[in-house]
Amino acid sequence: MKYLLDTANLDDIRRCCEIFPIAGVTSNPSIVKREGNVDFFAHMREIRSIIGMDSPLHIQVTAPDAEGMVRDADAIMEKVDSNVFVKVPVTLEGLKAMKAMKAKGIPITGTVVYSKQQGFLAMEAGADYIAPYFNRMENLGIDPDDVIASLAEMIALYGYPTQILAASFKNAGQVDRAFLAGAQTATMDPSILISAISQPHIDGAVEQFMNDWKAVHGETLLCQ
Ligand code: E4P
Repeated sequence: MKYLLDTANLDDIRRCCEIFPIAGVTSNPSIVKREGNVDFFAHMREIRSIIGMDSPLHIQVTAPDAEGMVRDADAIMEKVDSNVFVKVPVTLEGLKAMKAMKAKGIPITGTVVYSKQQGFLAMEAGADYIAPYFNRMENLGIDPDDVIASLAEMIALYGYPTQILAASFKNAGQVDRAFLAGAQTATMDPSILISAISQPHIDGAVEQFMNDWKAVHGETLLCQ
């Protein structure tokens, strides 16, 4: 299992990378919008400098048409670095763009995936990652566990090198389900990771241990 941060907030990325086993960072235009009118490419380079060259960085195109998406991908390769996975929505234009990007050797993440067929086509088009939208599927009455399990089954059956990058989570329980359904990686807002660990019952248990220690040893800790 790999955990990625679905944010472009530099402070959150720095803080989470100190605490959690973070494997990479994803964003989309809505996520970047929260950071205000930043210099896009400089901001992405800053994220890269925090996470390092070996951690996957996924950056989404903004153009609506295939030609524009390929131009966006070229610019990301040139102005950020050539290790970036370029996120392309799995649409008609997106699939067309993937062909051209594949021919150029550009790493690809197929995103905005709401169905098995979108995932299958992205795999066949050579996407390195596919990003099924867990919460958004659930909101539409689509079973995200079933979609992810089917994608995982096809990857295993035919040996596709594609990895499932589950996305669009609103709570830690959804992340549990995505991993259990077969997603190798999942990207989430830092608040989901923090809320998974920072819980009153966990803190209460730790406090009880501390109180029991102090009842015998006072304020003297183990290594004092
Ligand atoms: C990830 O890269 C996706 O763009 C993102 O998780 C979508 O999440 P949302 O449904 O919260 O917008």
